[in-house]
Amino acid sequence: MKIAMVGSGYVGLVSGACFADFGHDVVCIDKDQSKIDRLNDGVMPIYEPGLADLVTSNAKAGRLTFTASLAEGIKGANAIFIAVGTPSRRGDGHADLSFVYAVAEEIGEHLAGDAVVVTKSTVPVGTGDEVERILKNSGTPHRIAVVSNPEFLREGAAIGDFKRPDRIVIGAEDNFGREIMSEVYRPLFLNESPILFTGRRTSELIKYAANAFLATKITFINEMADLCEKVGANVQDVSRGIGMDNRIGSKFLHAGPGYGGSCFPKDTLALLKTAEDYDSPTRIVESVVKANESRKRAMGRKVLDAIGGLNDARGKKVALLGLTFKPNTDDMRDSPAIAVAQTLTDAGVHVAAYDPEGMEQAKPLMPEVEMVTDPYAAIADADAIAIVTEWDAFRALDLKRVMDLAKSPVMVDLRNIYRPADMRDMGFAYTSIGRG
Ligand code: UDX
Repeated sequence: MKIAMVGSGYVGLVSGACFADFGHDVVCIDKDQSKIDRLNDGVMPIYEPGLADLVTSNAKAGRLTFTASLAEGIKGANAIFIAVGTPSRRGDGHADLSFVYAVAEEIGEHLAGDAVVVTKSTVPVGTGDEVERILKNSGTPHRIAVVSNPEFLREGAAIGDFKRPDRIVIGAEDNFGREIMSEVYRPLFLNESPILFTGRRTSELIKYAANAFLATKITFINEMADLCEKVGANVQDVSRGIGMDNRIGSKFLHAGPGYGGSCFPKDTLALLKTAEDYDSPTRIVESVVKANESRKRAMGRKVLDAIGGLNDARGKKVALLGLTFKPNTDDMRDSPAIAVAQTLTDAGVHVAAYDPEGMEQAKPLMPEVEMVTDPYAAIADADAIAIVTEWDAFRALDLKRVMDLAKSPVMVDLRNIYRPADMRDMGFAYTSIGRG
């Protein structure tokens, strides 16, 4: 089976490397020649645990190659995946499909044999129909099928998620599409990963529905956390107490500073736009989007409260620990840390920040923040320490040293990684999320 992966970003590269590891012959294509050169030298464009090893070992074995030429790359491919970006379109929040359609045009122009074209990028309902129209209009004499196969990879755990998925969703309209996709995923069936064959539009919607549902779960528990603070209850026990009900499930019930990342914010917005276009409003998702947006700045105000409030903030110093939207990634997209830092600097606070992987990406997004090279440098002379991302490195801080270095022993733990009783025993003025 030969697979061409158009777009060597996060999804394309992880999927391509994993397919190669399963023994398929994979070509990753990207129009950015410098990215291709770096990949050929074993340099990854993103940080993802295990990816560099997976790419280099499969490249060495000859199963994974890279090219900037789409015409070259798709030659002889049985399956051509489209894994290019679908960012939010500036101004209206619709998914910007221009990259997807441009790739479809180019595939139509250069197709040299029968192939299944697969949309792996997250695309609104109906995009597969348009890709099919573009391919058919290209006048290609070859047999084609357009299939939807959404990804459900979490950053930081993407390789494990790809190799042992909860499910694989394939939206195909004919047997040619279903047969080729069965071959592509055969190594995973052997691992007994369930596969759901459905229609193309349904498959496209499943991706958005899944992300919107997870975003709703997070937002729900975040609101419960706020209520816990008011009534003197503990949100972690609320999570456990409801999560043990199998109908609810225990995952995605960690209260925090709000969800960020490359998927939830963009996909919930895009789903709202689709719902609007079809005159079928999704009011729950509307509320989720609003609640999550306002929560991020509210977290900044929570830190301000810990240092004596807005009016007393000017000239104080806050150490921000963790900037990326979650640990084990260098991704800063829609990270709550951006709004937290902005709220603090707007109030005249000096913010010193440390993140194990995200500082390069964070710099342009928070120009007023001082980036330092280790957590203790951020903590030195700080009036408060705010933990924004739950990197393992922050779970075992030397708290005695923290106490000595900080100007005041004030900690705002937006990820609940410390135990309130322990922190109070040590003498910290400690606040967290939804714990009384
Ligand atoms: C998500 C989906 O999980 C994945 O299936 C999809 O393909 C892409 O989007 P990702 O964005 O990598 O993956 O991260 P995820 O681990 O899902 O976390 C998203 C955000 O939600 C993070 O900001 C995280 O901190 C937050 N989160 C997650 C919570 O606040 N609480 C939780 O319980 C879980």
